[in-house]
Amino acid sequence: MKRSFRFSLIKKLLLISVVLGLAGCLDNSDSTAHQAEPPVTSLAAPTTNNLDMNVYKSPTCGCCGDWVTHVNQAGFATRSYDINNLTQLKADKGLKPEYRSCHTAVSKEGYIFEGHVPAKYIQQFLAEQPEGALGLSVPGMPVGSPGMEMGDRYDSYDVLQINLDGTSLVYAHVKGNH
Ligand code: CU
Ligand code: CU
Repeated sequence: MKRSFRFSLIKKLLLISVVLGLAGCLDNSDSTAHQAEPPVTSLAAPTTNNLDMNVYKSPTCGCCGDWVTHVNQAGFATRSYDINNLTQLKADKGLKPEYRSCHTAVSKEGYIFEGHVPAKYIQQFLAEQPEGALGLSVPGMPVGSPGMEMGDRYDSYDVLQINLDGTSLVYAHVKGNH
């Protein structure tokens, strides 16, 4: 009994070191880093209070925490969950691989806000609630997007509206400085 406990602890420590090595903010390959983990088939916890968003992220993602701070400053109440198999969660939520980024936020209305979406577009989207929309996404992690600040470099990027039928359209274009 004691031995198997120790063994699982060692396994856990090993796994953590693998995760630290592979699943940083600039690496979305958490599926390969967590192959030993059972898939997540449901969300970590339902919203039991009046939170605006639940945010699912990898335990080691610093830029995810910075994005959470950004939306909090814009007035959104959030709770963050550290999830090992984010790839499975994104698939369960209907997010195609080309729309994916680091963290996945789920609003109390059930909309998905994937990656470093600026809060003002989330506010606009929630006010409009476009028909047939699943949510918004900023695929990848553009430099200069909220939570991805790197000095005075700002990349241009699109905020995509993801639709329930799997299609997308450009919801907003953010112009960079180079
Ligand atoms: Cu990120
Ligand atoms: Cu993130």
